[in-house]
Amino acid sequence: TANAMWGGRFAAGPDAIMTAINASIGFDKRMAAQDIAGSRAHAAMLAAQGIITDNDAEAIGQGLLTVLSEIEAGTFPFRVELEDIHMNVEARLKEIIGEPAGRLHTARSRNDQVAVDFRMWVRDQCDAAIDGLRTLIRAFVAQAEAGADWVMPGFTHLQTAQPVTWGHHMLAYAEMLGRDLSRFRDARARMNECPLGAAALAGTSFPIDRHATAAALGFDRPTANSLDSTADRDFALEFLSASSICAMHLSRFAEELVIWSSAQFRFVRLSDRWTTGSSIMPQKKNPDAAELLRAKVARIMGATVALFTVMKGLPLTYSKDMQEDKEQVFDAADTLMLCLAAMTGMVEDMQANTEELRRAAASGFSTATDLADWLVRELGLPFRDAHHVTGTLVALAEGKGCDLPDLSLADMQGVHAGIRADVFDVLGVDNSVRSRQSYGGTAPDQVRAQIARWKDLLG
Ligand code: ARG
Repeated sequence: TANAMWGGRFAAGPDAIMTAINASIGFDKRMAAQDIAGSRAHAAMLAAQGIITDNDAEAIGQGLLTVLSEIEAGTFPFRVELEDIHMNVEARLKEIIGEPAGRLHTARSRNDQVAVDFRMWVRDQCDAAIDGLRTLIRAFVAQAEAGADWVMPGFTHLQTAQPVTWGHHMLAYAEMLGRDLSRFRDARARMNECPLGAAALAGTSFPIDRHATAAALGFDRPTANSLDSTADRDFALEFLSASSICAMHLSRFAEELVIWSSAQFRFVRLSDRWTTGSSIMPQKKNPDAAELLRAKVARIMGATVALFTVMKGLPLTYSKDMQEDKEQVFDAADTLMLCLAAMTGMVEDMQANTEELRRAAASGFSTATDLADWLVRELGLPFRDAHHVTGTLVALAEGKGCDLPDLSLADMQGVHAGIRADVFDVLGVDNSVRSRQSYGGTAPDQVRAQIARWKDLLG
């Protein structure tokens, strides 16, 4: 049978494989609510402009609500031969209200229809990401507050670098996630222009009111160029890009959780709620959620690359290639929300092992920089000379199998005669972190100031 929508031109129906490759209904049914909202706004505008009658608009509006309730109830008869959500909704509307249904598509094309539906869907996901990020940032800030002055090793190259505070490390993630949040906010603001009314590509000869539909659908304004409106998927790419950066951040903490919860580190413990056992090794408590999170971000990054690859080189305006945008974004959005929720759960759940953190902070010559700084401050050595003296002392301690504070004053004076007993004050980890009072530094006072700032920001 020829198609119900374009049967005028077509005598025969499509090949079965054509139907299979062409259909998007299997996934774009997720935009049903947006599609119906868009159509309702469009029909109301058409009536207000005298393009269709009030009676027809009323029948369309009511009929669309019936369609929506069928979809929500799970009784809607989705048909793959109707290709997508737009034509499924319209065909069902026709069954329900008859002739007026055919007037809904006046001054509209599926090209602007899909653009507006998808924008609204992605806009909702930006809001969901912002919500999820706020909750996760709160969890990191709560950890920071609990341990503003717990000492732990800071790393570079995953080698002990300098002692830092637990609170400082937690707030590092608050900073990353705060930038993520602002990226979703920026993207949302930029995408909030309404493409409905661009029609197929050129606009329409009907006297439509694009400002009215834009306002009715919560957009700031209509888009300004009809060609761009139907060809543009920047909003999806921005969402994916922001998601990818956020996912990268999540994967870094996931990796730290995997390392920190190992028997070799023992920095944190995850409860039974966030770990799994082994079917053979009875002692195991594996951080599977953190591992999966570390891996699942690949889907988000993959989706980003996939959509860039779909869009690159496409001539204006709409090409069917663009139908491949949705599955990528849907999967990325689902994955991001799941990862944000899982990370929030783990951050709330994790218990820091403060003794182990402190022990590790004090090992690995972590206060060597403090010693070098002392030589500069107290003895007036140029930093490069102080670095050399300290390096010699580290080598001495390493040879003796001890740490810097375990060296005797005589050992130290053997390397530099000017060293005094009060040098030992700066070799302790608490003094070390307390001394790092520079703005944004790891000193507990600085951390508490940043916690206050975050609490203020989060309201
Ligand atoms: N299913 C299509 C998509 O998702 C809707 C737009 C189709 N437009 C067209 N001219 N064939 O992109």
